[in-house]
Amino acid sequence: MPKVTYVENDGTEHIVTIPAGLSVMEGALNDGVLGIDADCGGACACATCHVKIAPDWRDRVGPAGPAETEMLEFAVDVTPESRLSCQITMSAELDGLVVHVPQSQR
Ligand code: FES
Repeated sequence: MPKVTYVENDGTEHIVTIPAGLSVMEGALNDGVLGIDADCGGACACATCHVKIAPDWRDRVGPAGPAETEMLEFAVDVTPESRLSCQITMSAELDGLVVHVPQSQR
């Protein structure tokens, strides 16, 4: 099964195995990653699952869709690496993905 490394603000890493088909947000919640609250439960309606994709992974993860882009306008510290983790579905191609929790989220 694919794995994702989550890096919290203080550098703490969580390496989480996530079944294909679940979201990167669900993996964070399952492992108690600090700063990923996911208040809307994955409905692309809160932006509290904001993560920064590691540069090496940006092309493979791809860009945000239109609804996600609109919701990211409500997030703090948005950069080209920003994605909402509930909108990234795990697959074998994303095995080894690294995401960082933004400094604004604790
Ligand atoms: S969980 Fe609310 S936008 Fe991702």
